[in-house]
Amino acid sequence: MSVHTAEDSRKVTTHRLFEMKRRGEKIAMLTAYDYTMASILDRAGIDVLLVGDSASNVMAGNVTTLPMTLDQMIYHGVSVMRGVKRALVVVDMPFGTYQGNSKEAYSAAVRIMKETGADCIKLEGGEEILESVVRILKAGIPIMGHLGLTPQSINKFGTYAVRAKEEAEAKKLLSDAVLLEQAGCFAIVLEKIPAKLAGEVARTVKIPIISIGAGGEADGQVLVVHDMLGMNTTGFSPRFVRQYADVKSIIGDAVQHYVADVKSRNFPNEKEQY
Ligand code: KIV
Repeated sequence: MSVHTAEDSRKVTTHRLFEMKRRGEKIAMLTAYDYTMASILDRAGIDVLLVGDSASNVMAGNVTTLPMTLDQMIYHGVSVMRGVKRALVVVDMPFGTYQGNSKEAYSAAVRIMKETGADCIKLEGGEEILESVVRILKAGIPIMGHLGLTPQSINKFGTYAVRAKEEAEAKKLLSDAVLLEQAGCFAIVLEKIPAKLAGEVARTVKIPIISIGAGGEADGQVLVVHDMLGMNTTGFSPRFVRQYADVKSIIGDAVQHYVADVKSRNFPNEKEQY
């Protein structure tokens, strides 16, 4: 298997993502929540790291992303930033920090930028959160949008099924994407929508479109790192996830081996003590 490592060690910026789209170079993005994983992914050549509020699921064991707090997102953001030299780092704004008052949204965004040192933030939604988007952008904080299946609205949807299959929802998604681009967002994540619609959005707007379960016509791809490494213990396996490793088994086998060695007094040996 050929392994891609970044030939260009310069820091990835929002401008460079735009250039990648223009050149037709695909953007590779993954989630990260801690220092160690972030340093491994950064050294392996990932373009964008998302400190996703999916930390709520894969780090904290919650069923939804809704419990995540601003302080928790900042903690994860700070940890990831310590491990990253090259990748662009995006931090999710957690549920409840931007859907209401746009001044509160602005303050939450400023806290993320000041306290984590991350490059930008991500917000879920279109027209309904536009006031917050505009206020944050005016402060010079770059925003990545997120449309389609937006997990912070799971209680409204009531299902994790594919979004925007019907014409009315597809039209609204396309118009939201244009609105976010016009407002000044630098990229948009499209989650779990038909590939044809994602392709249409990617051709309509000039900013990069990143797919998670939205097909190969987008300008880039993002996955939750625990899913693609095979670390998920919940049985969650949607068809858009390609599993590149079986880390759960590797860890399980190693720990069983360690337990057996401790019980049998095989560990530590003479060389492993002082
Ligand atoms: O929080 C997250 O991991 C995300 C991805 C699903 C894009 O928003």
